[in-house]
Order: sequence, then C-alpha cells, then structure tokens
Amino acid sequence: MSELFKRTSMCGTLNISNVDQEVVLNGWVAKRRNLGGLIFIDLRDKTGIVQVTFDDTIPQDIFQKADSVRSEYVIGVKGTVKERSAKNMNIPTGEIEVFATDLVIYSQADTPPIYIKDDDNVDDTLRLKYRYLDLRKPKMQRNLTFRHQVTKLTRDYFDSCGFTEVETPMLIKSTPEGARDYLVPSRVHPGEFYALPQSPQLFKQLLMVSGTDRYMQIVKCFRDEDLRADRQPEFTQIDLEMSFVEADDVMAVQEGFLQKLFHDLMGVDIQLPLPRLTWDEAMERYGSDKPDLRFGFELHCLNHLAQGCGFKVFTDALEAGGDVRGICIDGGADQFSRKEIDKLTAAVKDYGAKGMVWMKVGEGEINSSVNKFFTQGELAAYAAEFEAKPGDLIFIVSDKKKVVFDSLGFLRREIARRLGLLNDKDFKLLWVVDFPMFEKDDETGELKAMHHPFTQPKLDQVPLLDTDPTAVKAEAYDIVLNGVELGGGSIRIHDKDLQAKIFEVLGLTKEECDEKFGFLIEAFKYGVPPHGGLAYGLDRLVMLLAGESSIREVIAFPKNQNAQCLVSNAPSPVAEDQLKELGISTL
Ligand code: AMO
Repeated sequence: MSELFKRTSMCGTLNISNVDQEVVLNGWVAKRRNLGGLIFIDLRDKTGIVQVTFDDTIPQDIFQKADSVRSEYVIGVKGTVKERSAKNMNIPTGEIEVFATDLVIYSQADTPPIYIKDDDNVDDTLRLKYRYLDLRKPKMQRNLTFRHQVTKLTRDYFDSCGFTEVETPMLIKSTPEGARDYLVPSRVHPGEFYALPQSPQLFKQLLMVSGTDRYMQIVKCFRDEDLRADRQPEFTQIDLEMSFVEADDVMAVQEGFLQKLFHDLMGVDIQLPLPRLTWDEAMERYGSDKPDLRFGFELHCLNHLAQGCGFKVFTDALEAGGDVRGICIDGGADQFSRKEIDKLTAAVKDYGAKGMVWMKVGEGEINSSVNKFFTQGELAAYAAEFEAKPGDLIFIVSDKKKVVFDSLGFLRREIARRLGLLNDKDFKLLWVVDFPMFEKDDETGELKAMHHPFTQPKLDQVPLLDTDPTAVKAEAYDIVLNGVELGGGSIRIHDKDLQAKIFEVLGLTKEECDEKFGFLIEAFKYGVPPHGGLAYGLDRLVMLLAGESSIREVIAFPKNQNAQCLVSNAPSPVAEDQLKELGISTL
C-alpha cells in the first residue's frame, strides 16, 4: 500500500498567483512525455489539467518512477509551482507548471478502452459500458458539476419561497400518468405488485391535504415508454405543489425561479413575464404544443384558397374535415435541391402525411410540384398568402388536422436545423396554456385526460362536459424552452362532485376509481385546500442549459436505447430461488 500524499490543491485551479508555492496534487495521468532529461506529466482531476515536470535535479529513483507511469495511472505529486517559459494560453493552467519533488503511484491502469478526451467520437455503447471512464472526460465532469449547481440553486430558491422538501415513497400503487409502470413484486404478498412512481402526483396532493402548503422534491420517476433523446426510463423531476393558488400564482413562482437560474448560472437576463400562447394558438401557428420560437416559418392556413380548387388532394382533405396548411422558408428556393425536398417529403411520411406540395417562387414565375393543377395566377395567390418573395420556398401539407400539424411542426424544426438556425445559446422560453382537457386515444378512440384526471377544467366551461367534452379547456400549463417541454402542471380539482364528473366523462366506473385512486378521493373528504403545481424534467433542463442534445449527457449512469444499464448489465435474469420466493414463474 502506498502512502497518501495529502492534497493541498486541485489541478485545474492553479495559476500564476500560486507561483513559488509548495503544492501536493492527486489525480490521473492524462499524458506522459519523456524528452530525455525531462519528463512531463499532464495530471488531471475534476477541475482540469496541470503540467507536472520532472527534471534531473530530483533523485534518480523518483525520475525513474515518473518514467514508469502510463496513461490513467493514479498518482500523487509534491512540487513547486513555477512560471512556464513556453506558455500554453489554451488551458487555464497554461501559464504555470509544477516542478515535482516527490511522486507516489497509488494504482496502475490498463490501457483504457476509450480515449479520455472530449472530442473522442467513440461509439455510444462503449461510452456507456465504460461510463466511469467516460465520466473522467472534462466535459462530463463539467456537466455533473453543472447539474449539481442547478439542483443546489433549485433547493435554495424554493426554500426561500417557503417550500419544504418532502420525500415520497418509491414503492407505490400505480399512478395514472399515462405511461406503462415498472412493477416490483411483493414477497410478503405473493402475486401482488408495487409500481415505481411515474411521478409523485397523488402523494404531493395528499401533502396539500396534510397542510404542507408548499412542497418540493427533486425526485426520481420511472416510466416504461419508448426512449428518445429527451426520454429515459428513469429520470428526475423538480416536483412542486402549492396550496391556495391559481394558475398565475404557480407560474409567477416559476418565472422567478427561471429568471434566477438563467441569471446566476448562465449570465442571461430573462424578461418577465414570459410570453404565453394558448394551446390552440401554438398548434395553429407552429403545429406543435412545444413550439421553438428561435425561428419563424409559421404555419398559414390555406383552406380558403384550396376550397373548390382543381387539385383533388387538397379538396379531398377539406371534404374529410381536414386542413391545407403550409410554411414558407425565406430564401429557401436555392437552399433545397429537388433531392433534398424528396428527402424531406419522405421524412414527413413518418408523421402520417401522404405527400407534400412544394412551390419555389421565382422572378415572375412559380415553379412547383403541382404546376399542372394550378394556373400561375392561382399559385401566386398561395405565395401572396405568405407574402413570399422571389427566392422563397413554400411547403404545403393537406390531411387530417393532426397529420398537418405534426408534419409541418416537424418540418419547421428540421429545416431550421438544416439551415443552422438552432443556436443553443439563444434561450426562448414560453408558457403554453389552456390545454384541452381531453384527447381521443388514437387506437381506441376513447377519451383520456390530456394532462391527468385531477386537472381542473376551466370552471366556466364545466357545462360543456355534458355536451362537448373535447371542447373543454383545462387549467393546465407547460413551460417550453427551445422546442422542448421542460415542465408541465395544472390546478387540481378540489371539488369531489366535479372530480366525479371528470371520472364519468373518462368512462371510469365508481369501482374503477375506488380501486385506482380511492385513497385520494377518501383524503379529499377531510378538508382539501385549492391547490396546483408543476414538475420540471431536471434532465431536460440541465441538457438545454449545458448545450447538449441528449439527456444522457447530463445523467451519470443513463440507460441505453434499449433501456439497459451497460455498466451493470441490468436488466438481467435472477436466480430461480428468488423467483420462487416471489411466487413468480417466467415463460
Ligand atoms: P409530466 O408527465 O408532464 O407531468 O412530466 C413533467 C416533466 O417531466 C419530464 N419528463 C421526462 N423526462 C425524461 N424522461 C422521461 N421519460 C420523461 N417524462 C416526463 C418532462 C415533463 O415536462 N405529475 C405531473 C406534473 C404536475 O402536474 O405537477 C407530471 O409528471 O420535462
């Protein structure tokens, strides 16, 4: 066992002000070079890298030990900080070096299977398998530290607003958040299961019944759903609930939080109040309930022009109750070749569109994929709708409303990406409000709650619950940043009759309600304050602030695309005995 050299400084913090100080450093060898009489070691810890120099003034055995170290050995060094003659202004410690007087090797290291450097484009599978090595990269350490700063600021901010952090259980009865549950079998109750929480929704509402008044928690949530760049099976929420509030009160507290977060951690001043779009407006203008406002390309409705036109694709869509809508790309005509337009057309098919019409506006003439169905005058009317100029490119989709919105919503963002308009230093926050209370399930056609069944409908629209439930809007709000849903919440129902009505509209019988969330309904009998709240996806928040494009980059040990932990090899088979104990048999 080697002696521990007690550390006095962190590698990345040393600079010209430390010259002539005696220091003791611990860390990993990032690089070692032997130039004959001189050995240079780049020593790395979580704060950065510093150059350590061994020359022939130190005892021979130490010089030889320095020569024996290899990349990723863990060592301790004693030495003196000196000003460098050849400075490296590319790194923060580049004006100094540490002249070593002693060295200890704590552990040797095999050649690592991945390079420990930020720009190493190694395959994700290797990165996730050797995550502990991947996390040694300076960028990953920065992301972990940054995430810590975000959670610390979050706790401090909500503490200063009178919120109490309360932990809620992880082994619960399933909550109705809409995704599939992760189930945990009970040994004590064979054949019965706990669910891991999709969110602490019902427990935070119980805390309001308990008089906790303002609750917050940074909490793990679990959802068994298809994975994407901004979705993980286990993720973290900043979860909040407040008593005696309306939607504006919840949003005002969040705006204060976001302003402080951006100011203190990003040096960005956010203008309040944040813009608000109703759900209807967001869909109409951007084809998305999480619009990216960093660029334009707003949707235009063309139904009035398409009415009775000679192009059957448009008129059929209208007759089936659908829409004809389009977007215009300034100066896009030269930027998208026919081949690229074909690729975009293939891509919108994933969103259900059967095809896409394009028009390139020229000087005095419009070239389009539908030239033979329209006169130049008719095409000019479409161009005029967008106030298009020569050089602009128009895309039009006609179909069911949902297909039109989804396709054009995707197209807006995809085109902005291709044109390099997605500046990750430009932060465009907004609220989307007045969500529909219900949506129709694509497969079953049944109504389901768009947020969750405890969300309060707009009270003046309650009569519509009987006549036209899909027209009812909810007291629900989402906070959106650069096209990503950062968080969502609502004012909750605290009136048992109204809650019963919502369950009825959702087609839930009394027995089903009692079985699913009878405990909440029971609690509401004993005095419930008006309340509401919101939850942010912490991983998404940190991802966007850190300029990353996947939440995996800001989670220490994420799952891969197939929901596996490649470090520990979970999920994995378990021993037959364990299954027996749980009363479970596998096929
Ligand atoms: P919701 O389901 O909208 O609301 O979730 C809140 C936020 O959590 C984040 N999120 C995810 N992040 C990563 N991976 C996932 N699989 C994932 N799923 C959701 C999103 C989302 O906006 N109980 C309610 C909140 C409330 O009403 O107070 C809820 O969970 O950023």
